[in-house]
Amino acid sequence: MKLLPLNQKKLLKVKTTKSQGDDHLTTSKGHFPEHIAIIMDGNGRWAKAHHRPRAFGHKAGMDNVKTLTKAASRMGVKVLTLYAFSTENWKRPTDEVNYLMQLPIDFFNTFIPELMAENVKVNVMGFLEELPEKTRKVTYQAMADTADNDGMILNFALNYGSRAEITAAVQQIGREVANQELAPDAINEETISQHLMTTSLGALADPDLLIRTSGELRLSNFLLWQLAYSELYFSDAYWPDFSAEELADAIAVFQGRDRRFGGLTTEKK
Ligand code: FPP
Repeated sequence: MKLLPLNQKKLLKVKTTKSQGDDHLTTSKGHFPEHIAIIMDGNGRWAKAHHRPRAFGHKAGMDNVKTLTKAASRMGVKVLTLYAFSTENWKRPTDEVNYLMQLPIDFFNTFIPELMAENVKVNVMGFLEELPEKTRKVTYQAMADTADNDGMILNFALNYGSRAEITAAVQQIGREVANQELAPDAINEETISQHLMTTSLGALADPDLLIRTSGELRLSNFLLWQLAYSELYFSDAYWPDFSAEELADAIAVFQGRDRRFGGLTTEKK
């Protein structure tokens, strides 16, 4: 894939809001993707290609999270959601799971000063109560430390699975109906969204752009509700090699797409 030069000025210039003020003109060509979600895949294959253990790939993956966080923040991304550990990843060998649970600790212990300097606010979503205590504590501390930052939101999905998220939302809605706090007929799409783990992101809850690295073409139980109208971008690069230049490339591809949300383009109207 041809890499475009990282041209932050150009990207910032075309940044606009989603609102068009006219509901049936739903095209968003040229818009900047305010919320980008990434399935960071390929750490293991990257390590294998370098004749190193899988943990080496995860460490390189963590280092690339730092690089891409700064790049995305400087490009003007408002929310960067990163799939760091899925509810299915517990099936991996214990050593690898332990290493992956140590990564957030290493990441936040070394990166909080730069997150503060970049004005980045950390959010962590997932079934956090199931994390080892040390991992859980460091994630809550990172959220507390950066709570007053009002720049980009760095949103980690940690012990996250979309079907489990939707199931928990349905259970909670069921409880509210049983308690007569909610009438079944009053349940609408907004109700569902408000019960998902992305609800704190408000109007930015749904990613504009999903990127998956390493050449795999799957969603892997990631944000199944929220990705309903997202643009998809697949890269052959393993996550540790996915560069800021390719992020800019993905954004440029996004900006060339015509998102119609089921409506018509302005040209066809
Ligand atoms: C998938 O690659 C990647 C993961 C399961 C872990 C992703 C985690 C990081 C990139 C680091 C996270 C950093 C922080 C700060 C929490 P894989 O292991 O499935 O690769 P493979 O498909 O090539 O084996």
